[in-house]
Order: sequence, then C-alpha cells, then structure tokens
Amino acid sequence: MAPLAGRRIVLGVSGGIAAYKAVEICRRLVDAGAYVMPVLTTGATRFVGPLTFSALASEPARTSLFEGPEPIPHTRLGQNCDLVVVAPATARVIGHYAAGISNDLLTATLLATRAPVLVAPAMHTEMWEHPAVQDNLALLRRRGVHIVDPESGRLAGGDIGAGRLADPARIVEAAVAILSPPTSTVSGGDLAGRRILVTAGGTREAIDPVRFIGNRSSGKMGYAIAEAAARRGAEVVLVTTVNRAAPPGVADVVPVESAAEMADAVLGRYGDVDVVVMAAAVADFRPKATNAEKIKKAAGPPEIVLEPTTDILAELGRKKSAQYLVGFAAETERLVEQAAAKMAAKRVDLMVANDVTAPGSGFEVDTNRAVLIAPDGTTRELPQMPKIELADAIWDRVVSELNDRNKEAP
Ligand code: PMT
Repeated sequence: MAPLAGRRIVLGVSGGIAAYKAVEICRRLVDAGAYVMPVLTTGATRFVGPLTFSALASEPARTSLFEGPEPIPHTRLGQNCDLVVVAPATARVIGHYAAGISNDLLTATLLATRAPVLVAPAMHTEMWEHPAVQDNLALLRRRGVHIVDPESGRLAGGDIGAGRLADPARIVEAAVAILSPPTSTVSGGDLAGRRILVTAGGTREAIDPVRFIGNRSSGKMGYAIAEAAARRGAEVVLVTTVNRAAPPGVADVVPVESAAEMADAVLGRYGDVDVVVMAAAVADFRPKATNAEKIKKAAGPPEIVLEPTTDILAELGRKKSAQYLVGFAAETERLVEQAAAKMAAKRVDLMVANDVTAPGSGFEVDTNRAVLIAPDGTTRELPQMPKIELADAIWDRVVSELNDRNKEAP
C-alpha cells in the first residue's frame, strides 16, 4: 500500500529559490498516496506559479487568507490535516512561527493546527547560521516540531555552503516516518509499542552570559534509562542537557539547557507519550534576572535574587491522564521519608530514591543504589549496581505495572 494513503497533508511553500523543489515534493507526496493541499506565500509565488501546484496536488493551491471562497481557510486546513510540511521554510516563516505571529495563510495555518509539523529550512549560509534563526529552530524543536536540516552545497548566486534545501526524497521520507512511526525498535521487546520520554542531566540557570547555577548531574542515569528502554523496544525521546552521543536506538534527542527549556520540551510532548521518567536534576530556583553582560568583578559580589522554576514533575502529575510517571529523588538525609513526601506531592507512580552522598551512588559515578517506592508506601531496596542494571530493574517494575493496568482495563 502507498505509505501515505489516506493522509491529508498541507504543503506550505515559502519564498526562496528552493520553492521550485517544492514542486517535486508535492509530486512525491501525491505519488505516496497523500491528499496534498498546497499553500504558497506571496514570496513563493514570485518563484513558482500556483498553477504548477494546482495541476499536481489534490486541491487548487491557496495563496491568501482572504481571496478564496472560504471565509476562514486556515482553520479548515489546520483542523483537517494529518501533517503540515513547510518546504522550503524561509527565515521569515520560521521566525513568525516561533514567535506565534500569523500574517499570511501559511503562518495562520501553522498556528491553527494541532497536527504534527515538519519544517525544512532553506536559506543562504549567513542567514542559516544567524543566532536568531538557530534560536527559533531550537525553540520549535523543543515544542515538538520536526526539522529536516538543510544540506551543504551550491546556493543561489553560486555560493557554496550550508543552507540548501534537503533532498525532496529525504523530506518525503521524514513525512512518512512521522505519519507511520515504527511501533518498536526491537520487535517483541517488553516495551514494544510504548512511547517513553526520559530526561537527563542537570539544568543550567544563567546568571550572566558566562556564569550559571548548576548541579553535578552527568546525565549517566538518564542515558542508561533511555538506552535500556530503547533496547527493550520502546520509542524513546530523550530530553537532555548533556552534550554527548545519543544512546543506541534513541533517535529523538532534544537538547535543552535551563529548567524552563526542559519544561517546554517535556510538557509539549506529554500528550504523545505513555511513560515519563524524570531522571534529570532540575534546578528548583533560577536568578530572577539574567545580566545581559558579564558581571564585573570590580563591582564587588553581586546580589542574586532567585525565583522558583516550574516543578516539571509536579506539573506532569497535575495534568496526568493515562501516563505512568517515574520520579527520582536525590536526597542527602532521611531518604525514604523525604522521597515518599515528594512522591505524594507530585502524584508519581514510582519513585526512585537515591542517597546522593553515599559512596558509589548518585551524581557522576557509574553505579547507583536506590530504593523503589510505590504510592502505597511499600519499598524495595536495591543493592549498589551499575546504572544500566538499575535502569533495567526500574523498567522491569514499570513493565509489570503497565501489564497489570492492561489486565484491569475493561
Ligand atoms: O546524572 P547522574 O550524574 O547520573 O546522576 C543521577 C542523579 C543523581 C541526577 C539521578 O539519579 C537523580 O536523582 N535525579 C533526580 C535529581 C533531582 O532533581 O531530584 P529532586 O529530589 O530535587 O527532584 C525530585 C523529582 O522532581 C526529580 O524527578 C526531578 O527531575 C523532578 N523535578 C525537580 C525540580 C523541578 N523544578 N522539576 C522537576 O521535575
């Protein structure tokens, strides 16, 4: 069967020389069985005529919020599609989308849709490398937008560099992957078909451009949990502050730095996952203001006023529907008592309490020693073991509880 049969896709085309390649993307999507609804910005129509898309796509191309027969085309398009693909996406469209500004049919559709969005940027190297563009893309990634990065090669005007639209075949493959994700990476694994989000590492809260408030988390515990979940067949998203290679089998890695960025990334994906494991060490407080310039030593010790960050796990607990929540508690005293109190406050299904002052346990080391706590207060004390083994012990417990839930479901 055609891989996109029955799927309704809005193809957004914005104004760059690569707009001519969107014609091939349109044809390939149609060939793959999709019902394609093209939306061109005014800029795009300067490069390619709407008639070309109308001839190839499933509906006539739209170019304006106001000129078609429908009074509100963006809401109809946004509500009735399975995917929005923007290719090529210019710096302007990316910027407007990231900032939530709608000033044409394409940006209005992007804001009106709840469907997944795939953005394929294309622009000159200088624009592609501009921090504003990269920050906007990082923000979109954190919100769950799929990005197909451009390639390096010959650009308009004969320059050579990064920014050339990804190959149309790659963009269509990415669309197929979004609409028909593999149910598991390991067939038959006991987490096959489960979508799992894991956080790892310590957040950094900026004081000024060079200093931050941080903690000692290396990400080892979170990476071990993500690796074990992928090996057991889950589809894993890893939200991490740590800059290191993705664990085997984990394709979706979302880099973040601060607690606020982690909160955006986790809460934005919550509706799409079955299990969340908060192994990250998230700052409880951040500087109320971040100095734009490096604070000068000569001015004497600064007074830094702190404010609370979002408690991500507590927020997940509040918004929980069918998800299973695993929390970690990093304690230095009264381990079980303190961890159990956090568990109740955050509506967690399983709390992993670790004493971060015990030798061979907690931050940075390759081993850990934990007590698993259930909501009814029962505990299971595990001996010190490598973090990857603790990860499997946690998954054994989660799998058994998820299976029990399935049996209980009517
Ligand atoms: O990364 P490693 O070097 O391998 O170290 C592993 C670890 C010690 C970081 C890990 O085993 C661990 O204990 N992680 C949780 C650290 C922590 O923040 O604990 P906490 O007791 O302060 O928070 C309790 C829970 O709430 C945690 O799941 C935490 O992710 C979450 N939280 C905390 C604060 C906040 N603002 N939002 C949160 O979601």
